[in-house]
Amino acid sequence: MKEKSIELLNKAVVDELTAVHQYMYFHFHCDDQGYELLAGLFKRTAIEEMLHIERLAERIIFLKGEVEMVASGPVKKIHDVKKMLDLAAKMETSSANDYNRWAIECSQNADSVSKSLFESLVVDEETHFDQYDEEIENLAKFGDSYLALQSIERSKNRASGQPID
Ligand SMILES: [Fe+2]
Ligand SMILES: [Fe+2]
Repeated sequence: MKEKSIELLNKAVVDELTAVHQYMYFHFHCDDQGYELLAGLFKRTAIEEMLHIERLAERIIFLKGEVEMVASGPVKKIHDVKKMLDLAAKMETSSANDYNRWAIECSQNADSVSKSLFESLVVDEETHFDQYDEEIENLAKFGDSYLALQSIERSKNRASGQPID
């Protein structure tokens, strides 16, 4: 039971690390293109995924396992905002699906703490999905003017001396 939980928790660590890398990459490029709000969203989400890694690692260590800090591969070098959001939404859906299945598996192995952890991560990943999906809808509705507004927002923040995310 313990070994199976450790294996699933480590698979989740891979998933989360991959998301941290990918979202930070998107953050850098949204920031570079002046898309203030999206740059902020990707950065905040990356930080939340990092906190997920912490919770997974604590559980792995409690079960006397080793935390395998590996990402699944290099980031996808996407610079187009619509494609960034599509990939991010897809990654969240796939994480939520995996964690749902792994919660059931942990429950079948009588590991209710790991089960609850996976269930709580599903709630967060579905929230992340919602946020990305909303941005996809905004982009579809308002098109380039939506992105232009984000650049204007940055100029306004700069002018008023507010910190840039
Ligand atoms: Fe996560
Ligand atoms: Fe997420």
